[in-house]
Amino acid sequence: MTISTNESIPVTSYKCGALTGTMTVPGDKSMSHRSLILGTLALGETTVTGLLEGEDVLCTAEAMRQLGARITRSESGTWHIEGVGVGALQEPKNVLEMGNSGTAARLLMGLVANAPFTTFFSGDASLHKRPMGRVANPLRQMGAEITSRSEDRFPLALTGRDLMPISYTLPVASAQVKSCILLAGMDTAGTTTVTEPKPTRDHTENMLRHFGARVDVELKNDGSRVISLEGQQELRAADVIVPGDPSSAAFIAVAAAIIPGSDVTIENVGLNPLRDGIFETLGEMGADIQISNVRLQAGEQVGDVQVKGGLLKGIEVPPSRAISMIDEYPVLFVAAAMAAGTTTMRGLKELRVKESDRIAVMAEGLKACGVELEELEDGIIIHGRAVPPKGGATVATELDHRIAMSFLVLGMASQEPVTVDDGSVMETSFPGFTQLMNGLGAQIGKKADT
Ligand code: S3P
Repeated sequence: MTISTNESIPVTSYKCGALTGTMTVPGDKSMSHRSLILGTLALGETTVTGLLEGEDVLCTAEAMRQLGARITRSESGTWHIEGVGVGALQEPKNVLEMGNSGTAARLLMGLVANAPFTTFFSGDASLHKRPMGRVANPLRQMGAEITSRSEDRFPLALTGRDLMPISYTLPVASAQVKSCILLAGMDTAGTTTVTEPKPTRDHTENMLRHFGARVDVELKNDGSRVISLEGQQELRAADVIVPGDPSSAAFIAVAAAIIPGSDVTIENVGLNPLRDGIFETLGEMGADIQISNVRLQAGEQVGDVQVKGGLLKGIEVPPSRAISMIDEYPVLFVAAAMAAGTTTMRGLKELRVKESDRIAVMAEGLKACGVELEELEDGIIIHGRAVPPKGGATVATELDHRIAMSFLVLGMASQEPVTVDDGSVMETSFPGFTQLMNGLGAQIGKKADT
């Protein structure tokens, strides 16, 4: 497994016919990071099947090795982690390279905040632009020392201290911030409490329990959630089964939904209710989506998603749903561009601080492809014309995997091919995207036969 070089690889997507087939997508990114982190904190050997072997997660694996875990991958693809236990992380010999991964960066800052050494963090140009104050501030409140570039940007150094537990209300709805504080709380005597006014993905809580921790979650009448964790509990090694990533499945679901005659089934997709907003939204837009075989697997809801192609209609997407589909908006913008009528999406300020400013970068690329839209500070209004947009542009991906995949999906349905300036960024979360899509009938990266 190698971390790719920074060589840009342009990739082109050509108009294709109906997509058909049954497939799985790579493992859930959020759960993959957490399985490596909790496996490191646990005593004994944790096994992980279905781990996402994308660059983001490989950065976390390498960081866990530096912090003392023994991590191997067997030929069958199962990962084995021999953890060090809570409070026993080792001082890394090198800078922890977080690549493109905001999740790795923010969760690991919490993880090492109580360790008796200084950890140096760095990442790529995208990560260096992202706000880290949202985690640095609560960690400072707990007692950690953090030195960074201006405005709490990477690279930064974090010196662990004996932390004090805090009770913290999230100022932004962010599972990364919640998880950072809970991980810092793991090695802190006393009870750490996080209140989230709007519930965010709860993989950290679910997986902490799966590793034997007691985590109290209280759902308040106003819809907020209060999560309390008693520090210095021991974690037991566990077997983790990672389902397919709904955020990756979304690209296939949208592609199938916008190409008439398509019929695809994505098996074994994670359907955590705090992550499944995209399927509900596509359904409201008129997509023919069937979810079946729903079951619980290692504490997480999993199922099969079948999508058939047709004509979508524009809708108003409720801003309250944004948290449950925050990573899916770029490809939802593509669905909106293919729909009949106007789609309004608001409450999306957080999209401006993802791997790129996803509102601005998508708006620019979509306009270059002939889509009519209005960019808003906290969202976008897209006027779909029910006929495929012109396409024919080369779009800047700005080191953002989801921008690259979204425009390749657009190219599958637009009149002229769409090129992304750098397809290598897809390795971040979806290794094998091109091959998988081409296996269903897409024409990506090569000239169409017709
Ligand atoms: C993630 C949380 C989300 C999401 C990211 C993964 C996680 O970020 O966008 O891709 O695994 O906790 P925020 O916490 O910034 O909303």
